Amino acid sequence: MKIAIPAERRAHEKRVAATPETVKKYRALGFDVIVERGAGEASRYPDSQYVDAGATIAPDAAAALKEADIVLKVQRPQSAAEGADELALLKKGALLVSVLSPYQAPEQVKAYAAAGVNAFAMEFMPRITRAQTMDVLSSQSNLAGYRAVIEAAYEFGRAMPMMMTAAGTVAPGRVLVMGAGVAGLQAIATARRLGAIVSATDVRLAAKEQVESLGATFVVAESEELKSAETAGGYAKEMSEDFKKKQAALIAETIKKQDIVITTALIPGKKAPVLVDDAMVKSMKPGSIIVDLAVEQGGNCTLAKPGEIIEVGGVKIVGHLNLPARLATDASALYAKNLLNFLTPLIDKESKTLKINWDDEIIKGTALTRDGQVIHPAFKEGA
Ligand code: NAI
Repeated sequence: MKIAIPAERRAHEKRVAATPETVKKYRALGFDVIVERGAGEASRYPDSQYVDAGATIAPDAAAALKEADIVLKVQRPQSAAEGADELALLKKGALLVSVLSPYQAPEQVKAYAAAGVNAFAMEFMPRITRAQTMDVLSSQSNLAGYRAVIEAAYEFGRAMPMMMTAAGTVAPGRVLVMGAGVAGLQAIATARRLGAIVSATDVRLAAKEQVESLGATFVVAESEELKSAETAGGYAKEMSEDFKKKQAALIAETIKKQDIVITTALIPGKKAPVLVDDAMVKSMKPGSIIVDLAVEQGGNCTLAKPGEIIEVGGVKIVGHLNLPARLATDASALYAKNLLNFLTPLIDKESKTLKINWDDEIIKGTALTRDGQVIHPAFKEGA
């Protein structure tokens, strides 16, 4: 059995789907590992480390992929229309394990089936205890939340902690984190470590306790609706217009007093909710910073521009794409571990071959295609 690690080809992507550490583990499980030349370079894993771990280096993607039974990627393969046709390089029957963004590219799901590739979308990992070590959204969001605060602190023309000096007192920064999921909670913890006064919002009332345990204040409009604002899987649900209005009014008041706003609110499979509109941006003090982590899903801030830092009335709005890739070494290490933890139970120790239980909850949740068919309920014909 052969595992291939091609280099990532999409813009802003610096991560890699396997590290020398996970390669060593795959070798111990009985796999041959082929790494495309330079695949780990941008995340500071040189080819020599992969070789030391037991991998073979292939000169290009075609050579790496042609005999691979399993292909590990960070982002979905490019189609011919997007540049080099990566999917065409995969052999029929290969397993593709990656973040596949099928809602953004539903036509790709059909293409995997047509190519006879069995594709697993890692971002669909069910949020059950057994799958926690395989949860790529959590591992990457955590780092994104941390990095968002670092980016904000970098752009901010003032200090975060309160400082009492002989020359006078520096006031602490005020940070509002909107959306207290994995990224938001890490952003709160990071801003607190830097000494800021932190508050946070979320539609899930369950987040209140977590926010407060990190030393931040929870800001939310009172409403009955909140009691059922979380799905069984722990994700946010779309809220009513009435709630959104009340919450927006409270946020509008809160936002005026902030120095830094970090938005992280997402609703799986949908456009990100708008939480900071033009008027709210204009109400903020010059020198304030907004970092919109949802910019790739349409943005929580109406003025945020994907991949840009813009300034409106002295307020900087940071729309960096792919924040985890700005911490590529750690992001790759955690992502690679997630994939290893996903694949290990699928390997039959005796025969050293894949034995997939297609009825398993983890497989059912993540498998998009199997043997030429689209099998995921959200993407099957007529879904
Ligand atoms: P996410 O990335 O989908 O969304 C980020 C946050 O935005 C969520 O907390 C969500 O409630 C919030 N949000 C959505 N709409 C909003 C709005 N209009 N205003 C304010 N906030 C809004 O969520 P993430 O980070 O993936 O985590 C969601 C939940 O899943 C959390 O409770 C987390 O602890 C839980 N979780 C469970 C895991 C497990 O059991 N294996 C693994 C990871 C997370």
